[in-house]
Amino acid sequence: MLTFVSTTVLSATLFASLGRSLPTNTASSTPSGSYSLIADWSGANFFDNFAAFTGADPTNGNVRFVSMEEAASKGYTGFVHYSATNTSNAYIGVDYTSKSANRESVRLTSKQNFDAGVVIISDVVHAPSAYGSWPALWLLGDESATGIWPGNGGEYDYFESVHTTDYNSMTMHTQPGCSVDNTTTAFQGRLQNADCNTGKGGDGCSIRALNQDKSSSSTLATAGAAFNKQGGGVYANVWTTQGVATYLFDRKNLPADIVAGKPNPSSWTSTPLARFSGTGCDYTSSLSTLVHVIDHTFCGDWAGKVWQSSGAAAATNTATCAEYVQNNPSAFKDAYFEIASIKIYGASGISPGRSTYAKRDVAPAPIAYPTIDLRTRDAECPDMPNATVTSTAASSSGMVHHHAHGLNHTHLHGHHNHTANSTMIRTRLIESSMFSFLA
Ligand SMILES: *[C@@H]1O[C@H](CO)[C@@H](O)[C@H](O)[C@H]1NC(C)=O
Ligand SMILES: *[C@@H]1O[C@H](CO)[C@@H](O)[C@H](O)[C@H]1NC(C)=O
Ligand SMILES: *[C@@H]1O[C@H](CO)[C@@H](O)[C@H](O)[C@H]1NC(C)=O
Ligand SMILES: *[C@@H]1O[C@H](CO)[C@@H](O)[C@H](O)[C@H]1NC(C)=O
Ligand SMILES: *[C@@H]1O[C@H](CO)[C@@H](O)[C@H](O)[C@H]1NC(C)=O
Ligand SMILES: *[C@@H]1O[C@H](CO)[C@@H](O)[C@H](O)[C@H]1NC(C)=O
Repeated sequence: MLTFVSTTVLSATLFASLGRSLPTNTASSTPSGSYSLIADWSGANFFDNFAAFTGADPTNGNVRFVSMEEAASKGYTGFVHYSATNTSNAYIGVDYTSKSANRESVRLTSKQNFDAGVVIISDVVHAPSAYGSWPALWLLGDESATGIWPGNGGEYDYFESVHTTDYNSMTMHTQPGCSVDNTTTAFQGRLQNADCNTGKGGDGCSIRALNQDKSSSSTLATAGAAFNKQGGGVYANVWTTQGVATYLFDRKNLPADIVAGKPNPSSWTSTPLARFSGTGCDYTSSLSTLVHVIDHTFCGDWAGKVWQSSGAAAATNTATCAEYVQNNPSAFKDAYFEIASIKIYGASGISPGRSTYAKRDVAPAPIAYPTIDLRTRDAECPDMPNATVTSTAASSSGMVHHHAHGLNHTHLHGHHNHTANSTMIRTRLIESSMFSFLA
């Protein structure tokens, strides 16, 4: 997520009044051994850990970010319930019924902030994949940090894609003076830029990981329709003062230490999709005091800018991204996140801080989140076989384990044939410099 947040330099007094407390980080630079749970965003309390950002999209998307109350009342947020396991996943969708120049969506920011010495494990069952969409799961410097983005704590995007692309672009945006190593054996993806301040931070250093970039360790799709068809995956991010790495695991084949709720990354045998490391960067100053953001915008500084070059204009036969997003609400029915859990584990001595967003939570009353029945919705699709919910819980303490529902998500893209041109689009995206517009 390219984030051009207008940043104010805050005085210490204002800083304090915003209620931000810093995370505690007394860990050694390379924590060894296991981590323990310090934040658990799952189940019925999932949304209580977030506040809504309702300002204009800093990335200039054709979107209106609504409040927590409005999102729940309109069914943009809710829970997908699995009776077999009596578990609920968070649903984060958008308006898929109205024609609107600024499609309604949500941008959730965590009420806690974090520093190096954490493992963030996100069990993502489904993610938006649609022309015009620009969804992301990412970490961003807390608002009260001094300086101008990306010098105010930096940014790390661990899951991000646009349109129907089938790869995840993991990206670090930092202050000048942070350059990462391109050690091809250290990660599976392909490094686009080594300088994390490329394009004044707008491009950053980015690693694209397609499933076909795999070494031998993963056959998982990293994003897009294939990611959804396989039931998503479990993204695990290891952030130390030596850098940050992102792994993708099959939910049904997780490392035993993750299943046990005691992740020990040094025991993981697979190669991460991305690893940002090396002596060319001071990670302590480049990434600090980050909040976790979940958002889904449309068009704007990335998806909008590559509308032509990505092939989306040709595939949709629509001249502009804005026009497509405005006039095709049903194309966004399947453009939702379904998240089983986000769990954050800290090394010894690590605890979360309280983010500026904690003070923003001004909901007058408890919010009633609707139950989202994906089966009913699927039945509205004539080309969709009757879906069934097939939870195969292999429950143990720690991670939520249910198998993704047996929905055929590739059939769920409204009534459009989104697979028609994906190969060509991917090829063109790789060949074009997606970020050159910012240079
Ligand atoms: C399902 O879980 C909820 C809360 O987690 C609990 O209140 C309820 O009793 C459970 N229902 C069953 C049938 O176990
Ligand atoms: C990193 O190395 C790979 C493999 O040699 C290469 O394809 C890629 O262009 C390199 N990236 C950068 C930024 O140099
Ligand atoms: C796919 O998109 C390209 C433009 O990117 C277009 O030239 C081509 O005709 C399209 N192919 C199909 C099968 O729609
Ligand atoms: C789908 O479910 C409906 C209602 O349960 C049933 O009438 C219909 O025959 C089913 N369709 C298929 C293809 O199984
Ligand atoms: C999902 O689609 C595949 C073909 O892509 C088909 O073989 C399978 O039976 C479908 N599953 C369901 C539950 O409809
Ligand atoms: C989708 O488009 C592809 C490529 O144009 C075509 O082969 C396929 O039959 C289409 N599928 C449907 C359901 O229209």
